[in-house]
Amino acid sequence: MLFSVLTVSDRCSRGECEDKSGVLLSEILSAHGEVIKYDIVSDDIEEIKSRLIYMCDELKSDIIFTTGGTGFAPRDVTPEATKAVIEKEVPGIAETIRYESLKITPKAMLSRAAAGIRGRTLVINLPGSPKAVRESLEVVLPVLSHAAETLSGNTISCGGDYK
Ligand code: MTE
Repeated sequence: MLFSVLTVSDRCSRGECEDKSGVLLSEILSAHGEVIKYDIVSDDIEEIKSRLIYMCDELKSDIIFTTGGTGFAPRDVTPEATKAVIEKEVPGIAETIRYESLKITPKAMLSRAAAGIRGRTLVINLPGSPKAVRESLEVVLPVLSHAAETLSGNTISCGGDYK
């Protein structure tokens, strides 16, 4: 699987703080495929959209993970940028991350994260903290290879009885 990682943070983009979440995300994903691009962008909707489009259309990433900008802060627009570039929504991914995360912290309901498909790329928003990244990734990791395989059009079978 080819992954791209996009950290969305005004402060990290200005070099005012270290991007621990993007680095952690890249580290964990490296064990499951290749991280072909890691980038940091400010909370600017047009900037986020153009990086996502580049990672989908030019780099042909299988899966893009964003981290940050999913909350209530006035400049948090990652889900809006994501929804503007995707062609199909995948609500189950964001719902399941929130559902599982709620067992850990009620603050999980404060993430407006979205997920969806553009072309043959799946885009998944994660919250901004390293803790949230670790917890959310654990939820989706088991389905990523099947998601990427189906998106590529190469699925022969879903491999089971759908139970
Ligand atoms: N999800 C998990 N699994 N663990 C967390 O600690 N933090 C929440 C939430 N989702 C959290 C989580 C908090 S405190 C916020 S404000 C929202 O994600 C939005 O985070 P973001 O604005 O950094 O994207």
